[in-house]
Amino acid sequence: MRRYIGIMVGNGVFKGIPAGRTSFENLSFYDEAGEKYEVTPCYFRFEDINPGEEMVEAYVKRGGAYLLQSVPKPVVIHNRIFTGKRSERRKIRKLKEEGIVFFNENNRYKKFRINDILAKEHKLRPHLPQTMMASEDNVKMMMEMHRELILKPNNGSLGSGIVKLTRDDEKQWEITYRDKKTLIKERFSSGWPPLLKQLSSRNLVIIQEMIPLARSKGRVFDLRVSVQKNEKGEWQVSGIVGKVAKKDWFLTNAARGGRCHTLTELLKELPHLQEKKVTAEIEMLSLSAARQLEKSLPHLADLGFDIGITNEGFPMIIECNCRELRYSFRNAGLDEEWKQTHFTPIGYARFLLDSGR
Ligand SMILES: Nc1ncnc2c1ncn2[C@@H]1O[C@H](COP(=O)(O)OP(=O)(O)OP(=O)(O)O)[C@@H](O)[C@H]1O
Ligand SMILES: [Mg+2]
Repeated sequence: MRRYIGIMVGNGVFKGIPAGRTSFENLSFYDEAGEKYEVTPCYFRFEDINPGEEMVEAYVKRGGAYLLQSVPKPVVIHNRIFTGKRSERRKIRKLKEEGIVFFNENNRYKKFRINDILAKEHKLRPHLPQTMMASEDNVKMMMEMHRELILKPNNGSLGSGIVKLTRDDEKQWEITYRDKKTLIKERFSSGWPPLLKQLSSRNLVIIQEMIPLARSKGRVFDLRVSVQKNEKGEWQVSGIVGKVAKKDWFLTNAARGGRCHTLTELLKELPHLQEKKVTAEIEMLSLSAARQLEKSLPHLADLGFDIGITNEGFPMIIECNCRELRYSFRNAGLDEEWKQTHFTPIGYARFLLDSGR
């Protein structure tokens, strides 16, 4: 009998399993990976697994269809949901006391915290845009030091609530943001616009120096880099994909109209750069960053870095997501990489099973 690997999914994904509508999750890749690593993935929600109970009601693929079955509680679980609430933490703690291993157990970290952990490693510092909490004093200080700044919610936002500040040659500032569908640009010099006052009044926003991102057909782009633990228990880069912003916009998020392209395609427009060298540097940086984060954050195994490159090909870390949705790879037509991002965690789960941890 093959051993079970748990994939903990959200309600929406769970409900869609019988009809094969599982949003950003591609279960067939996990099942294929199960064949390769000789384990059986089973899919359940957080509420389906309980301390003290031996079995879990989970979907398992049997002869081409997903059947809801009672299966022995898996010892290794790949977490694909956000579990932040205190009651959820408590339950996870109890499950861990029973010997269950979760990877990506916590996957929601504040941007400032991630940046702070990364900045502790000297060799990463040149690759980090200067970042501060956006208090009024810090915003003033950053405005002294940089011409272009970005303010972002410290908690994830899929690109929403982000504001850009730009200084022109006459020391006039301009604030740019979107209010629903409307693009707003406001010029100011001494008196701050109400939005800027508001953003710097509560401790919820970070301010970061704007990285001069490389462009494709005049549009800025950055990269999503999937960094995962593999079947040897080691970090690997499972894929790199480019995200190009809409024309005249500064956010590359798919939710803000960004489009996904392969790095190869994007680098064709930057012929002074060598793809091999750029890719190797991005990979090296992402792996070092993953190793650094792992020193401070418990059981990371599946990360999605946003990495920008300058026109000279120098890689800069924009942020790190601890739950990668992986759909950028599909959107760019990188099917092999998309599949790889599902295979690697199953390989890692097998590694954990074998190492008896
Ligand atoms: N310092 C920066 N310099 C240049 N562009 C930036 C910078 N910070 C953010 N951006 C642009 O804004 C986008 C969104 O920013 P970021 O990835 O930090 O937050 P987010 O995606 O909204 O957060 P989350 O993924 O947690 O929801 C980036 O993909 C990039 O296009
Ligand atoms: Mg992002």
